[in-house]
Amino acid sequence: MKFFIDTADLDAIREIKAMGMCDGVTTNPSLMAKAGRTDTDALLKEICRVVQGPVSGEVIALDAEGMVAEGRRLAKVDDHIVVKVPTTYDGLKATAALAADGIAVNATLVFSASQALLMAKAGAAYVSPFVGRLDDVSEDGMQLIEDICQIYENYDFETEIIVASVRHPIHVVESARLGAHIATIPPEVVRKLVAHPLTDKGLAAFLADWRKLQEGR
Ligand code: E4P
Repeated sequence: MKFFIDTADLDAIREIKAMGMCDGVTTNPSLMAKAGRTDTDALLKEICRVVQGPVSGEVIALDAEGMVAEGRRLAKVDDHIVVKVPTTYDGLKATAALAADGIAVNATLVFSASQALLMAKAGAAYVSPFVGRLDDVSEDGMQLIEDICQIYENYDFETEIIVASVRHPIHVVESARLGAHIATIPPEVVRKLVAHPLTDKGLAAFLADWRKLQEGR
């Protein structure tokens, strides 16, 4: 299973990449705003240089023509750029056009199996179902992942599933259990994935015993 890191924070990306936990990065306009850099293309380029893997940058346009123009510009920033396109009627048109140009598209804001099916048919390289935001409105985010995995398997779609809007470790573990290709994980969830209170408790006990041993010398 591949881990993408869901952030535009270069320091966090560098740290997680060095641990071997970063196969790619996803950004969106909100994450870019959080990073506080207005030179967004330059920031994407720097992220690509660190990651050396797929880095998603999102289009802002809402019409197909605008999305295609923006997508083509973004794709020129670096060979690793994946163009994030919203899953709308115009997004479908733009995805088909960008895919025909050989540009990798990440279909974003996916909230239903029908959206994932259509974006795969349009030629998206990735789809991003947002599990956390579905859970927030009392829908089962992980059930959507199961449905998309099943549909893609039925028809041998090559589109990869990026589990997005990940809020906690169980989202990642369930994604792995279901066989999703990728989870895009915020840096704070990477920390939570490795943490366990029994590890901390066990370590404290080992160190206390070690200290006692040294003091008894
Ligand atoms: C990634 O592609 C998405 O933009 C991101 O996971 C959304 O996460 P959020 O629902 O926590 O904003």
